[in-house]
Amino acid sequence: MRVALGCDHGGFQLKPTVLEALADAGCDVVDCGTYSADSVDYPDYAALVAQKVVSQEAELGIVICGTGIGISIAANKIKGIRAALCSDTYSARMSREHNNANVLALGARVIGPGLAYDIVKAFLSGSFAGGRHAVRVDKITALEEE
Ligand code: RB5
Repeated sequence: MRVALGCDHGGFQLKPTVLEALADAGCDVVDCGTYSADSVDYPDYAALVAQKVVSQEAELGIVICGTGIGISIAANKIKGIRAALCSDTYSARMSREHNNANVLALGARVIGPGLAYDIVKAFLSGSFAGGRHAVRVDKITALEEE
């Protein structure tokens, strides 16, 4: 599986942990930056990752900022993106199974590296259940046209 990864300076400290989890899961990574702790703007990195996902250059995306809030809000502005901000493994798994989330958002100032590692693995292990959940996700997609 190919995963696009992006973060701002607030998320940069968690990037090595996420890269480790992706490597351990056997994922190829499209690294969209940032590449240092210098201050940048999180919407730029949300957009880079989101474009990789909607263009199908990556199957999934992971975005990280300080809280995970700004970068998830920004990613969700891109048509076709369903970004889930998760701070626990259950939500991460269910975001895939029920919501068909295609981007995971993490807050590097909210969760520690051990939990972040497990959240990434939980997100990757989930698969969309379809059925009644597909009806609901289709309704989310329809909202993009309003
Ligand atoms: C950057 O200081 C911080 O605002 C950003 O990483 C994020 O937490 C925004 O939601």
